[in-house]
Amino acid sequence: MRVTKFRRVALVAATLGLGLAEGFATRTPKLSLSSVVQCAAISSSGSNSVADLRKEYSKQGLLEAELPLDPHEIFQLWFDEACNAKVLEPNAMCLSTCKDNIPSARYVLLKAHDKRGYVWYTNYNSRKSGDLLANPHASLTFWWGDLERSIRIEGKVEKVSDAESDEYFNSRPRSSQIGAWTSNQSSKIESREALEAQEVAVVARFEQMEKIPRPPHWGGWRLVPSRIEFWKGRESRLHDRIVFERKQDGSDAWSKVQRLQP
Ligand SMILES: Cc1cc2nc3c(=O)[nH]c(=O)nc-3n(C[C@H](O)[C@H](O)[C@H](O)COP(=O)(O)O)c2cc1C
Repeated sequence: MRVTKFRRVALVAATLGLGLAEGFATRTPKLSLSSVVQCAAISSSGSNSVADLRKEYSKQGLLEAELPLDPHEIFQLWFDEACNAKVLEPNAMCLSTCKDNIPSARYVLLKAHDKRGYVWYTNYNSRKSGDLLANPHASLTFWWGDLERSIRIEGKVEKVSDAESDEYFNSRPRSSQIGAWTSNQSSKIESREALEAQEVAVVARFEQMEKIPRPPHWGGWRLVPSRIEFWKGRESRLHDRIVFERKQDGSDAWSKVQRLQP
């Protein structure tokens, strides 16, 4: 049997007596690679339990009186600060969907935002898109740990216009455009080699074309927010939570800010 890179890692770890639980080695006690890393971090803090991992938040809190009345303005402010703080992938957000009462969450990248909502791009045949077609209610969660801040956005999704998707697709590097054609996102595939063979076929298909067209199954989703919550970690777990809700009068207006208990 061919020894893959993963299998080699597992064998080395097993030889060290660790025993990996992630499907490629079977020694006891079972310990996943991630828990090995985490335990190393905990023991360096003098403890041996994940329950002892905690952080006291100390940065400045959130006061209603100091906040703009429009949550989009606060979002822009916090997003800029996350970028300036050099947070890793500040535009990464956890997208939660729910189909047939079964929730599912994954990260996507925010690619545009304005008063209309928050946009990301993906494959329209993917699991997330299937979920959204069945149930347009979704939520987005940002976590900027270095700033002790999180934002939760809830609402309904709509597809962005073809023109908007085209414009963004055309701005992507060629390799990412090839990737969008290559991957039948969320479908099973027998091996890495099979995926790479799909890529080779796509490269050949577009070799003579300077401009690669957007795949019809690829484009943007926009979450139109009805609720936006700003969370700031505070001392003794008395965190700040400020929530804005869209007025139910059909206008674009937001209700007065509300504070929630942490
Ligand atoms: C930081 C980060 C950013 C990601 N951004 C995107 C994205 O913008 N679009 C996308 O389709 N997948 C993105 N992915 C991959 C998704 O998390 C996910 O694996 C993929 O979309 C398939 O999800 P699904 O099967 O639930 O549809 C990203 C993953 C990470 C970790």
